[in-house]
Amino acid sequence: MPKTPPKKLYIETLGCAMNQRDSEHMIAELNREEPYELTDQINTADLILINTCSVREKPVSKLFSEIGIFNKHKKEGAKIGVCGCTASHLGDEVIRRAPSVDFVLGARNVSRINEVLHRPHAVEVEIDYDESTYAFGEYRNTPLKAMVNITIGCDKSCTYCIVPHTRGEEVSIPHTLIVREITKAVEGGAREVMLLGQNVNGYGRRFGAGGAGEDAPRDFTELLQIISRIDGLERIRFQSPHPLHMDDAFLHEFATNPKICKQIHVPLQSGSTRILRAMKRGYTQENFLERCAKIRHLAPDATISTDVIVGFPGESEEDFDATMAVLEAVRFDQMFSFKYSPRPLTEAAEFTAQVPDEIAGARLRRLQARHNEILVEVMDAQMGRVHRVYFEELKSGGRIAGRADDGKLVFVEGSEALLGQIRDVEITHTSRAALDGRVI
Ligand code: SAH
Ligand code: SF4
Ligand code: F3S
Repeated sequence: MPKTPPKKLYIETLGCAMNQRDSEHMIAELNREEPYELTDQINTADLILINTCSVREKPVSKLFSEIGIFNKHKKEGAKIGVCGCTASHLGDEVIRRAPSVDFVLGARNVSRINEVLHRPHAVEVEIDYDESTYAFGEYRNTPLKAMVNITIGCDKSCTYCIVPHTRGEEVSIPHTLIVREITKAVEGGAREVMLLGQNVNGYGRRFGAGGAGEDAPRDFTELLQIISRIDGLERIRFQSPHPLHMDDAFLHEFATNPKICKQIHVPLQSGSTRILRAMKRGYTQENFLERCAKIRHLAPDATISTDVIVGFPGESEEDFDATMAVLEAVRFDQMFSFKYSPRPLTEAAEFTAQVPDEIAGARLRRLQARHNEILVEVMDAQMGRVHRVYFEELKSGGRIAGRADDGKLVFVEGSEALLGQIRDVEITHTSRAALDGRVI
């Protein structure tokens, strides 16, 4: 009997690394039932998945027009599934607004993809569903690097943020599962792992129903120590730590453990202590600067990246100047900055002193313009330096791209033979976005 050809899957992934990992999980789960291959052409797909992000309003409002377009171009009988964070908080409203959607699967329910696929108009969006001990199937976009969840959910209550309402309470994944998953990835060729959690420093506070055993690490620092003992694993990255919970033991581990890449995301959100209080971030401008100074002292070569929200309700010119002052003091190597976007279910959406859009826009431009100047200086200073680069991706024109230990993107001329190798590269050209160099 001739074998049936694999089904085709079109999957669009918005949002953060956690969503990217969830997409890999869904692909793995689908393949447990029947073979799927990825396609980038809507009209050939048997299944269309949109893995959504809800952190700001814009992508959410685009979702419904996108569903309309997908529905128009899809082939007869193809299914459309809306997954991820927007699925979590809109639930069956997705199907009410877009009846062409076949199922809705929340960010904390991705293990149920095969179940919803076969139930017309299924909606699974429980945010207290415990996936912390679920053994997902194997699928990774690249064999060279592995993303591995260490916690699910978030226990914080930052007043602007919808994530706790889409991903539920924080639960840690038992270290035995984490180590098993990393070991498997390493056996498959990965030399680098990216550990994922909304607040990685919360690791170990709460485990799921099965517990984590007596030898469970007590905190993130102990988990890092355990993971760094995995043979063959050479690079460990993580995102995101929370400035409030980065204690001295953790920073010491970060600075001294040779397997931990010297790149750290320290999300500022605002430089004004008054606004930080309204955001319920739990730290002051002073605490934040002290933690960054400590990182610069312990690990002078480390890059520090950050997230900033501009135009949070009540933000005055003076508050914004405080954010500019932190940028000046820390000189972030990378900065992700956005205008505040009011989100449903969040406290700040009810705050009355919303900042007019033109003012927020002007502040954002000022912040980004200054950061661009800093970035040019940071990148120019790399000229002639030697970075250890892990080569990951072939580019056109005989070029190959990789990441330096500190996270910077580096290009060299080279062939496929460099893929998967970690080599010293001398930097010969710099730009704001990336470095060029030659292998030495
Ligand atoms: N857990 C991570 C953040 C996850 S959300 C942390 O604490 O750093 C990713 C980023 O989106 C946040 O750092 C924040 O800068 C941004 N963000 C969250 N809610 C937002 C909102 N309502 N408007 C604008 N940006 C927001
Ligand atoms: Fe959102 Fe705050 Fe949790 Fe980050 S720590 S996901 S910003 S609530
Ligand atoms: Fe990530 Fe967006 Fe959800 S940032 S956690 S996919 S709301």
